Amino acid sequence: ADVVRFRSQLLNWYNKEKRELPWRTLVKRNYIILLLWVSEIMLQQTQVATVKDYYNKWMKRWPTVQDLAAATLEEVNQMWAGLGYYSRGRRLHEGAQKVVSELKGQMPRTVESLLKQLPGVGRYTAAAIGSIAQGLVTGAVDGNVIRVLCRLRAIGADSTSPAVTEALWNLANMLVDPERPGDFNQAMMELGARVCTPKGPLCSQCPVQSHCHSYHKVHVKQEQKSKNL
Ligand code: ADE
Repeated sequence: ADVVRFRSQLLNWYNKEKRELPWRTLVKRNYIILLLWVSEIMLQQTQVATVKDYYNKWMKRWPTVQDLAAATLEEVNQMWAGLGYYSRGRRLHEGAQKVVSELKGQMPRTVESLLKQLPGVGRYTAAAIGSIAQGLVTGAVDGNVIRVLCRLRAIGADSTSPAVTEALWNLANMLVDPERPGDFNQAMMELGARVCTPKGPLCSQCPVQSHCHSYHKVHVKQEQKSKNL
């Protein structure tokens, strides 16, 4: 307990008092935000397995937002070849040029500014970048997470309706772990991709089975049926 207090007191002090040294701030934070921006844009319409190689090559070629801004559109399109939906690469390029020319090379740091400043970044992508790269406390609702949350609360209504969308974001914001928002959001995505799959979810492997209203509905119904027989 003493160690826990020592850590939190030291780190609280550091959060407030740390000097803004260039390698602590601009370079490192910008880099992490850039990593998440590029990966989330690539992942918007392409599967994880395909994105991996493209992402590694891209970040090796353009490790800073300045490098990306200085590239030509032809180079960007060449690098994007095979990923599909080329407008995504073009928007990354445009965004990088905007960050360099209008934001002094500083990547946006809040969910609101990510949303406002970066072309191609919508509500989910801003929340994902903010929580994973910056530790901002926000839920992040993408297609996988919609499915997980709808099952968790047995929501049968159209999940694309504005009312249900709002309800799902509220639920995600309520559930997110304020200590580890990025890990929490990625755990939800991972659960949707690996366990709570669209067809034939692997409920027996689900770490939050006991919280799941859909599971209980199906399970209780089956038990009642077998009792009646
Ligand atoms: N899909 C979109 N973002 C992701 C992430 N951060 N981890 C795994 N899958 C994702």
